[in-house]
Amino acid sequence: MTVRTIPTFPFEGQRPGTSGLRKRVTVFQQQGYLENFVQAVFDCVPELVGGTLVLGGDGRYYNKEAIEVILRMAAANGVQRCLVGRGGLLSTPAASAVIRKHKASGGLVLSASHNPGGPEGDFGIKYNIGNGGPAPEKLTEAIYARTQTLDRYRTQDTKDIPLDVIGHYAIGTMAVEVIDPVADYAELMESLFDFDAIRALFQSGFRMRYDAMNAVTGPYAREIIEGRLGAPAGTVINGEALPDFGGGHPDPNLTYAEQLVAEMFGANAPDFGAASDGDGDRNMILGRKFFVTPSDSLAVLAANATLVKAYKKGLAGIARSMPTSCAADKVAEKLGIECFETPTGWKFFGNLLDAGRITFCGEESFGTGSDHVREKDGLWAVLCWLNVLAVRREPVEQLLREHWARFGRNYYTRHDYEEVDAVDAKGLMQHVIDQLPTLPGKTIAGRTVKLADDFSYTDPIDGSVSKNQGLRIVFDDGARIIFRLSGTGTVGATLRIYIESYEPDPGKHDQDPQIALADLIKAAAQLSELGERTGRDRPTVIT
Ligand code: G1P
Ligand code: ZN
Repeated sequence: MTVRTIPTFPFEGQRPGTSGLRKRVTVFQQQGYLENFVQAVFDCVPELVGGTLVLGGDGRYYNKEAIEVILRMAAANGVQRCLVGRGGLLSTPAASAVIRKHKASGGLVLSASHNPGGPEGDFGIKYNIGNGGPAPEKLTEAIYARTQTLDRYRTQDTKDIPLDVIGHYAIGTMAVEVIDPVADYAELMESLFDFDAIRALFQSGFRMRYDAMNAVTGPYAREIIEGRLGAPAGTVINGEALPDFGGGHPDPNLTYAEQLVAEMFGANAPDFGAASDGDGDRNMILGRKFFVTPSDSLAVLAANATLVKAYKKGLAGIARSMPTSCAADKVAEKLGIECFETPTGWKFFGNLLDAGRITFCGEESFGTGSDHVREKDGLWAVLCWLNVLAVRREPVEQLLREHWARFGRNYYTRHDYEEVDAVDAKGLMQHVIDQLPTLPGKTIAGRTVKLADDFSYTDPIDGSVSKNQGLRIVFDDGARIIFRLSGTGTVGATLRIYIESYEPDPGKHDQDPQIALADLIKAAAQLSELGERTGRDRPTVIT
């Protein structure tokens, strides 16, 4: 088996976005496209030579083919050992856990997260570093720069590895271990949460539905929730990981997790509902006829952390992404711990977690996690909720109402405008940017603007600066309007408008957020000339 050097030429547009390189499957299927990106990673990460690489993905269409390509390239580039999830599967948080447990140099995670899969759908790849987290911007930029000059990649002729069979294999000098994708992760979860208490909760008749959305968490949820925690069979729905996610859009929100939402808001609804996305890092939490916003979920988990086995001693601090509501800040303030506001994207939490400055972190986009791995973790959030509920034994809605009574309620919504013309979207953003200096002191929707800026973040650990992270308009009563363009879309531009207001009075905690926020929503549309510039009169998705 000889190493072969194959001539290639650069492809445009291989810059990783918010979470890795995401494109249509057909783009990845072009000869050399995947290979170039992977070679750029090997060229930029010298510690992979002689090191251990973790490899797995969310099982979407093209996952297995990509894994075989990467295995050959890894061997040809001098990787010593490669750990691959059986069937090519590893949820994103499980990949992070495996990297950390086995002290790997890094990992390649194949996923386009919550984007639809199948031959016409999306595919993606990202590199995670030795702490188990997404590569920092410096490295993703270096990888991108390398893709622009690349003229060869290395591979090796060999037959395919039988990915469906756990065992030890070899390609040239590289050892390949096909591992159980669930085992390390399940063990980690068992070390964090009080499984006895949760088992007792289920034995008391507590009813749950977990919607795996025919994506990667199916096998994880079946093993942990129905297996180790003894929830009745049928608790996990859509539990089979399918390459096209059963034709669905594996994004756990009120729009796409239809079946779960129908059951949780229907007659005789279960006590607790949850869902996860394509690669298992997102989560949605529901009570009976009740939706918990991801921002509130982070705040509630933080406020109740000392009830949970692994966090009994309390939290070091909390971080949230800038567009996430300020509910977590209220909790941090009461607990007397630090709270950080980072740009969108999990990679910005890595340094704070590594430095021990934060224990919990989260994003409004259905992402919650802790220092146990360096990715957001859907099942972790669900189990954390179960641990809290096992101790408090209260309905989810009551728990939220008590939380709001104590900390105030942050009404929150996000309006997404998908597949907007990229030029129009840029024009809209520029129009808001142009107004920023004039806004402070102005009255909008009956409130006074306190601050208006283009968010820039200085990492408190390494001092690196990330600019242009979203436009914020902050009011003196805590309300906010935020405009951002998505960094994960694959077609046109996705405009996200995030709206929030703060209501301390428990007598006013009963409103529908769309109504409570109506004046701010209208003001955001006027300020940005939304209708005129995009031709849209309503969002594609509201969360
Ligand atoms: C979206 C979310 C962001 C999340 C990312 C990866 O990115 O908004 O919070 O970290 O997906 O799951 P965006 O498309 O907004 O750039
Ligand atoms: Zn995801």
